[in-house]
Amino acid sequence: MPKEREWLTFYDWARTYGNYFYLSILGQPILVLNTHDVVSDLLEKRSGIYSSRPRLVMAGDLVGFDQAIALMPYSERFRQLRRLIQRELNAKALEKYWPLHEQESRELAKNLISHPTEMQSYIRHYAGSVILKVTYGYQTQPKDDPFLLLAEKVMQAFSMASQPGAWLVDLVPWLRYLPSWSPGAGFQSTAKKWSDLHMQVINGPYDWAMRNQGLPALAKPNFVSTVINQTDADLTEEEQSLLLWSSASLFGGGADTTVAALSSFFLAMALYPGVQQRGYTEIQKVVGKDRLPSVSDRKHLPYVECIMYEVLRWNPVTPLGVPHMLVEADVYEGYHIPAKTIIMPNIWAMLHEPSIFPEPHSFLPERFVGNEAAVKEVSVAFGFGRRACPGVAFAESSMFVAIATALSTVIIANARDMQGKDITREVPYKTGTISHPPAFTCSLTPRDGAELLSIRT
Ligand code: HEM
Repeated sequence: MPKEREWLTFYDWARTYGNYFYLSILGQPILVLNTHDVVSDLLEKRSGIYSSRPRLVMAGDLVGFDQAIALMPYSERFRQLRRLIQRELNAKALEKYWPLHEQESRELAKNLISHPTEMQSYIRHYAGSVILKVTYGYQTQPKDDPFLLLAEKVMQAFSMASQPGAWLVDLVPWLRYLPSWSPGAGFQSTAKKWSDLHMQVINGPYDWAMRNQGLPALAKPNFVSTVINQTDADLTEEEQSLLLWSSASLFGGGADTTVAALSSFFLAMALYPGVQQRGYTEIQKVVGKDRLPSVSDRKHLPYVECIMYEVLRWNPVTPLGVPHMLVEADVYEGYHIPAKTIIMPNIWAMLHEPSIFPEPHSFLPERFVGNEAAVKEVSVAFGFGRRACPGVAFAESSMFVAIATALSTVIIANARDMQGKDITREVPYKTGTISHPPAFTCSLTPRDGAELLSIRT
């Protein structure tokens, strides 16, 4: 099993072994799918049996990350959570949140202009603030917000806890019964520490939202209040638990993914000044100089929209998706696939398929202009079948307006790594379920229209 950026090795192996191939890691069958055709045959057309998640003893049983939807096995509880989330995250229902996205994008641009060296931390602040406001109605503090600091620690814990092969207890599940004082059971105290942190991030913003219903501190609309107001009676215990975990699922699914995508955007703009200029020119022509772009401008800004698609394609946020698990044995093209096989869709390979995306390593938004097939294909960035990302419309609105606002207000240039060396176009993205670019800085110079940021909306 490759240890770093597995998607690249899998892409190479696909040239030798074919579009899909099978691995066995200590007896655990894994099927890697490298093309959209195969993914569509299995994860979409046979989604009834390909939509569970593998059991992760450390991250799931011990720390409890599997109580939120993304790691949850396919079950009745999963369907209830997913229904609740989908009802509020469909494109129509989301329009009421557009002003929140716009407000936070302007806050981001303002922060980037005042503190250009803290770009990464303000991107993080933007993504967290949007999701906390939309989910709980919570307005973050401009700096060192306690929920965002906590969420960051939990994200790091999640990355470590869910790292494939990092925990012996994932391979030998009975080890979970070792008492914490016994030799080799150090993982128990780590799991306990992470589980406490996890519960703080699940309960903290939710309890805050409950305490503040009907009070002025609560930003409206928000997901929690909308669900509460849909029922006349008090929520039952079961309904409260669904609301708690669906809110947590939005927070967990939406924050770090948006950070990775927007970091890629800033990096791409610094590396491709011509693309940046073309996006800016389009905004100037359509939106003019008297206001900043809004989410509803998207249909009139096709090139900026293509920049967003290219960000999703160039270095996909989840290069290997989130693994699915097959619940019963299956046969595909004559091959037997055992029950409990872990399925890894190689999203990176699909988005670098040269027959659909020529010169796949270059950042070329033009490839999407008037090319509906390419736009359709880029949706693989959001996963498949019954587990496909329910936050796609949310993510696109949030990304689009942050991208358009940044293009309108700052010139992005000079990407450098943390040693101060210029970054070239071959950027080694980090290994992980959510893959971020390596830490970098760039210069951010205010544009003429940036003074519009001082007008609060
Ligand atoms: C650029 C942004 C994003 C990308 C690329 C992305 C991508 C993905 C992918 C690949 C999956 C797994 C799909 C599968 O298993 O086949 C997923 C799941 C999920 N995403 Fe997103 N996502 C993004 C933003 C968001 C946002 C903003 C939210 C919430 C507001 C969200 C909520 C979720 C949830 C709840 C799941 C779990 C779904 C399940 O397991 O059934 N995501 N996302």
